[in-house]
Amino acid sequence: MPNSPNPDRDAKVFALYEQLVEIEQRLIPTGLHVFGRPSSAGEKTDLLKMIASFDRPEAGAKAIPEELLDDAVHVFQENGVDAAVNFLGAEETRPVFTLLETVTTKLQTNNEIDSLVRALRGEFIEPGPGADIIQNPDILPTGRNTHAINPYGVPSAAAFARSEAVANSLLDRYKNENGRYPEAMALVLWGLDNIKTQGEGVAQALWLLGTRPVRDALNRTTTVEAIPLADLGRPRIDVVMTVSGIFRDLFSPTVQLLDKAVRLVAQLDEPLELNYVRKHVLQQVEETRCDLDDAAVRVFSNAPGNYGTNVNFMVMDSQWDREETLGDLFVTRKCFAYGRDSKGRAFEGREARVAMDQALSRVEATYQNIDTFEIGLTDVDHYFEYLGGVSKAVEKRAKARPAIYLSDSLSREVKIRSLEETVRLETRAKTLNPKWYEGMLKHGFRGVAEIENHVSNTFGWSATADAVDDWVYTEVANTFLFDEQMLERLRDLNPHSAHSLAQRLLEANGRGYWEVDASVLDKLREISRDLEDQLEGVI
Ligand code: BEZ
Ligand code: MG
Repeated sequence: MPNSPNPDRDAKVFALYEQLVEIEQRLIPTGLHVFGRPSSAGEKTDLLKMIASFDRPEAGAKAIPEELLDDAVHVFQENGVDAAVNFLGAEETRPVFTLLETVTTKLQTNNEIDSLVRALRGEFIEPGPGADIIQNPDILPTGRNTHAINPYGVPSAAAFARSEAVANSLLDRYKNENGRYPEAMALVLWGLDNIKTQGEGVAQALWLLGTRPVRDALNRTTTVEAIPLADLGRPRIDVVMTVSGIFRDLFSPTVQLLDKAVRLVAQLDEPLELNYVRKHVLQQVEETRCDLDDAAVRVFSNAPGNYGTNVNFMVMDSQWDREETLGDLFVTRKCFAYGRDSKGRAFEGREARVAMDQALSRVEATYQNIDTFEIGLTDVDHYFEYLGGVSKAVEKRAKARPAIYLSDSLSREVKIRSLEETVRLETRAKTLNPKWYEGMLKHGFRGVAEIENHVSNTFGWSATADAVDDWVYTEVANTFLFDEQMLERLRDLNPHSAHSLAQRLLEANGRGYWEVDASVLDKLREISRDLEDQLEGVI
């Protein structure tokens, strides 16, 4: 009976509809940036719509409601600010269109080549903020000298306020799935991200610990205070932070702030079931007979002067036999502690492998904030080297794979996704989306290399976190190698990358990440052999 009420079916259809809308509305890069070339008309329209869909208190602008957005931006582009304000019949929408007008003008100019030439001549290049264009339209015009931010201003009041909802959603998600809060989490913090967001990642860590930043008489964020448990309404989470080398270099006072927050929380006289930091620190002192100072180390980075985890290089070069090697490499590179002990003595990059092993052994969830539309999980190898690397390290030390989450702090509503969900979304919105790969293929040789990179970065999520469904590899093979016309195009444009792509798929099967029929593998081997022959000049 087709019309009988069926709430279960309706809920499933609605969930499917929501997923489709999410993929459809996902903003993706549709090509590479060409140095010196301003955006095309179509790209401009998409950007303006995104910019207009967020509240911008700093410009006095309110977001245009979703159902009016397309038409309002169309009227603005055709007939200007007054026409758009009239169209919406609301004078209070003027600031948003004034902002769009400024952005439109700045998008028409592009100083990139000019500035490069001037920089090469040793001339002064005006500074501009570094950020995502949607997050901060003030980054326009491009071609300026990106400046960092004052680390003593981090986290900004706005970043701290925004991060409360992210931290709560993260904990709610874990609790819904596991019936309780995670006792310890591992967070990845990057430098450029915290510049762009004025410290949202830092603020999220402070919220999880149940602390807030405090400014001194010079308005510098040099300390923190504990939020009372009664106000927090939940336990304080133990937070293990891995900060990038760039973060360590740019945010030295912030590294100290984070370390201070952990030590403050560890000393609070509170019930252990409401203060997991204290619980674990005392546990560690008991178990390993170390002192309190050593048991409270939670901020880790590379040795001074070193950067990166090298997990990405090991994966890309297929230089590993067992997955746990990837997690071990992560710890080897990142087990250097930063902070200050109870006597006020600073330690800056002291090797602390045992402390890191111990801290990671209690971690139940890992997390990284994603704060840009431009670069996601499969665009670069850095997400899997960091978040994948730390998750693999936790898996061995805690003897259980952690829950792995990412946030999308740019959406209208805070969105926490599991790693698996994010990989699926990225695959559908980018790698397998004709809009995305045709945009890449317009760039010829480099475009094919980008497609291959995406597949290899996706593979990185299999290697570090077993987070890729079989269908992803199957559809990659179908789309790029088993479609004869497409294979022909890839072969003509860049046979090297086409060959690497085929090899990577075979490696995915060989390492147990992709179960597929023998006939498919035979076909792949044949394609790979043909490409190899072509590269060697046999055919
Ligand atoms: C950073 O901004 O800290 C960062 C950038 C690229 C890769 C890894 C970290
Ligand atoms: Mg699998």
